Amino acid sequence: TKIAVFASGSGSNFVAIEEACRNGELHAEIAVLITDKPEAYVAERARELNIPISVFSPKAYGSREKYEEAILQKLQEDHVEWLILAGYMRLIGHTLLDAFPSRIVNIHPSLLPSFPGKAAIEQAIEHGVKVTGVTVHLVDEGMDTGPILAQEAVRVVDGDVEKTAEAIHAVEHVLYKETLHRLFTEQ
Ligand code: GRF
Repeated sequence: TKIAVFASGSGSNFVAIEEACRNGELHAEIAVLITDKPEAYVAERARELNIPISVFSPKAYGSREKYEEAILQKLQEDHVEWLILAGYMRLIGHTLLDAFPSRIVNIHPSLLPSFPGKAAIEQAIEHGVKVTGVTVHLVDEGMDTGPILAQEAVRVVDGDVEKTAEAIHAVEHVLYKETLHRLFTEQ
């Protein structure tokens, strides 16, 4: 299965997926890392791991359509079958949704539909919940909406954002590869 990982941030999920591809836990190959942030740490990690990087800066295109058409062309050249979002901080538009129907997956650090959007862990702690978690879901045009594929609960640690984030990331790195493995073998 040829996949493209989309990321804008530190890339710990990208690294976890890459490792699972390499050690055979995930029967997939990362054809390309797509990023809108060339300075993000994920780009450095991709260089170290010898994964090709394609940078697409939205500002260089007049519209979201034009931006996504450029990405789509690259994905088609690489024969990519699935788009895996891992901390990609943009909504996906119709161009990519139509080209990859039910083949775009996202991971989010809360038990959706609670706490969608940015700063989900901070939101959970502000609300004083005692349990939050991780959701893997298919992407639609909404923000962190779309059919849920897997969820796992994570206890809030001492009402602390950093400690809870650490626990959440550890769960993400396992849940994402397992869910993708299930998806790719079902197809
Ligand atoms: C993760 O918490 C993921 O759930 C969210 O963005 C974060 C990305 O972290 N969508 P990383 O860049 O993979 O370390």
